[in-house]
Amino acid sequence: MSRYALTISLFAIFACTASAANWKTTEEICDAYGSYNCVFATADDSGSVTVHYQPKAGCEALDGCYYTNNKCYSNSTHETTWGNMASHFIAVAGNSSVHDECKTKTTEATCPSGTCFWDGTDSTCNGSFDSWVAHGTSANAPEAMMGYLKVSLTSSRTCSPLNTNSTCNANKVCMWAKTISYPSGYCYLTEEAAIGFMASACPTEAGYGASVMNITLAEAQAIVAVSQAGDVTRGALLFAAFTALLVLGV
Ligand SMILES: *[C@@H]1O[C@H](CO)[C@@H](O)[C@H](O)[C@H]1NC(C)=O
Ligand SMILES: *[C@@H]1O[C@H](CO)[C@@H](O)[C@H](O)[C@H]1NC(C)=O
Ligand SMILES: *[C@@H]1O[C@H](CO)[C@@H](O)[C@H](O)[C@H]1NC(C)=O
Ligand SMILES: *[C@@H]1O[C@H](CO)[C@@H](O)[C@H](O)[C@H]1NC(C)=O
Ligand SMILES: *[C@@H]1O[C@H](CO)[C@@H](O)[C@H](O)[C@H]1NC(C)=O
Repeated sequence: MSRYALTISLFAIFACTASAANWKTTEEICDAYGSYNCVFATADDSGSVTVHYQPKAGCEALDGCYYTNNKCYSNSTHETTWGNMASHFIAVAGNSSVHDECKTKTTEATCPSGTCFWDGTDSTCNGSFDSWVAHGTSANAPEAMMGYLKVSLTSSRTCSPLNTNSTCNANKVCMWAKTISYPSGYCYLTEEAAIGFMASACPTEAGYGASVMNITLAEAQAIVAVSQAGDVTRGALLFAAFTALLVLGV
């Protein structure tokens, strides 16, 4: 399974959980998140991708990145930590009883809206964005962990189900991109949205990302704070989770 698939369908990996008692610290989570601010990509309307590297100074300042051969790359240790964040969440917060209840429903008609989510491609319904966020809040997840949760859930609940370039690009938190794993295109969360979700808890790392993306933290936060309907023009959008994979191919 490709690395970014972990972010796209994070709640498919319950089985990988281990016993653990405590949340990672904000610093640990932000260092891991930093590994997604080393290299970025933008895509045009057709999904063709352009890669953008974090400049040397920012790259060397981020624990999650390293600079070599005049380019910035993700540190695999921190990248793995970020990729395994969903398992960490389940290990500490436990499974969501709401989600477990949702998963017993196998038709759209019986999948309750609000608490549950039906994307039309899975055989079961799932816990909704709101119910997972409520689960994290009640488990006292640190703000950075909640940021991760919102990044992952928005990716899987909002963007992934949009399976055409036009419906995907009409949503300002999503972007259509042709990648190594999806040569004909896939709907990803934009990096601006990821920056917006992480900006408050990890302002240093998000700030380096925002600088490459030519956006302020406040602008990135505004993208995710308001309606996710496609009501603004899509800017230079990025997708954190698979940029490292892209770089392997360039
Ligand atoms: C919904 O749950 C199923 C079963 O646990 C899982 O395979 C699937 O990836 C989930 N879908 C989303 C969008 O989380
Ligand atoms: C979007 O996808 C459709 C169907 O594959 C294609 O005809 C159209 O050219 C695409 N739009 C752009 C801007 O590439
Ligand atoms: C990646 O991060 C780990 C943990 O901080 C560190 O030990 C390692 O040296 C880093 N690797 C690179 C290539 O910077
Ligand atoms: C969560 O549920 C899965 C099965 O859906 C189980 O394998 C796993 O052990 C559970 N994890 C925890 C921490 O309860
Ligand atoms: C940000 O702006 C600079 C200068 O105009 C440009 O070279 C760069 O490609 C832009 N970054 C993105 C992600 O569009």
